[in-house]
Amino acid sequence: MDFPLYFLDGIGNRLMFAIIAITHVLINHPLAIGAYPLVVALEFWGWRKGRADIDELARKVTFVLFLVTTTLGALTGVGIWLGAALIAPFGIGALLRIFFWAWFIEWFVFIAEVVLVLIYWLAWKRWAEGRMKKLHMGVGVLLAVMSWFTMAVIVAILGFMMGTGSWTADQNFMSAFFNPLYAPQLLFRTAYAMLGAGLFVWFLQFFFTEKGSDLRRRAVRFISIWVLAWTPVCAIGAVWYWGRVPEAARANLDVALMTQKYSQWNDSFLLIVGSIVGLVLLIALIGTIRPKVIPHFVLIIPFVLSLYMLGHFERAREFLRKPHVVADYMYSNGVRMDELPVFQRDGMLTYATYVRHRTVTESNKLEAGEDMFVLACSRCHTTTGVNALTDKFNTLYGSDPWDEAALNAFIENMHLSRTYMPPFPGNDKELGALVAYLQQLQATKRSVLGAQTRGVDVPPPRATGTASN
Ligand code: HEC
Repeated sequence: MDFPLYFLDGIGNRLMFAIIAITHVLINHPLAIGAYPLVVALEFWGWRKGRADIDELARKVTFVLFLVTTTLGALTGVGIWLGAALIAPFGIGALLRIFFWAWFIEWFVFIAEVVLVLIYWLAWKRWAEGRMKKLHMGVGVLLAVMSWFTMAVIVAILGFMMGTGSWTADQNFMSAFFNPLYAPQLLFRTAYAMLGAGLFVWFLQFFFTEKGSDLRRRAVRFISIWVLAWTPVCAIGAVWYWGRVPEAARANLDVALMTQKYSQWNDSFLLIVGSIVGLVLLIALIGTIRPKVIPHFVLIIPFVLSLYMLGHFERAREFLRKPHVVADYMYSNGVRMDELPVFQRDGMLTYATYVRHRTVTESNKLEAGEDMFVLACSRCHTTTGVNALTDKFNTLYGSDPWDEAALNAFIENMHLSRTYMPPFPGNDKELGALVAYLQQLQATKRSVLGAQTRGVDVPPPRATGTASN
């Protein structure tokens, strides 16, 4: 298997995008949004107490934040755009049109954020006295506000994707922005970011403070109080958020949390969440009362667990809104709900951009079927890699050659029994072509080639006479 050529069909569209986006969130929430307020608070504390060592600790932590957020953080942020444009051009296109001005402003804020982080880090030693020190802390506060503001915009878009609220009726920008999930999700993410920052700096400060020192004791206590304060806010945000998740999305919870195979583990999962929260609170409580007794290695545990929990939250959130990429508007495979009947009547290949054939014939059946797989299933499935259709159908029908009628019936009705999948968006002939392709796939196990190898297929103009694009 040739790695780059088969990449998208091996690891899968979903997982590739998830790796980029979740890495971004794991950096962005604790290190950008949550940590700047914490660092500015530390700096302020050191300034008020006239303690150069606290100030120096804040500066060292800032260096780590600066390094990670401007490299891996920024790169994965750009990666989200590239990934979305590649995997879900219709979805990101729709969101860009609806949220144009929000994103427009967000880009200015983002650039301001980068400039501010540069100033904050580079001017730390130069702006150390009197009014310049105040100015430096002012830059820090502004930086903290700006990083939060970018999240406040993006959360509107994330919430909208799960519940479009009254936008479906009025198509109004404000309705889209202030969707029902907006406020609770913003509260939850803000608190989680603050909490995550506490857990991160808790651990990180050990590298910059000495064992048994007064500085370490104070730092552990300071952050323990920070953690104790934000945990309940986070819990309130989570409960409020869950209360606003639409009914249809809640129905997906079992598969969303642990995949279909492990869905019976869900009760244990809630127990795991409870234990993690309890553990974090316990450590924070000890850290507040007896900061000296907390050993270094213990503090990596809550940080790693918090990353795991945040990653899991993102996975579940993305899953809950299936089969839609934008609730009540567009399916995950890029088909708009109002387009579906047209595709099912005229065929999807008729309107698609990069396919080899407009209509299915006996001789082009396998190629047309492969194109149907790419259009209708490949956002979520691969042929033989992650979440592979070969595996899925083997589980259902065994590894003997699959029966044509059974596959036909399954795909026609799959959205009814597995509500996380969209309806098949093509006509009968295209369904037949997909089934023929799947049967061949079972026999050959041949992955779909990337455009690098096969080139781009531009089909002849549509029969109606209008040129295809
Ligand atoms: C929106 C994403 C999405 C799309 C699009 C999609 N599926 Fe699925 N499909 C899933 C998920 C998620 C599962 C369950 C995976 C798991 O947890 O095991 C699944 C499961 C299946 C299963 C196994 C069902 C079972 O109960 O064992 C089959 C078969 C299947 N899909 C076929 C298809 C075919 C064929 C297409 C294209 C016509 C398609 N899917 C399109 C998301 C999707």
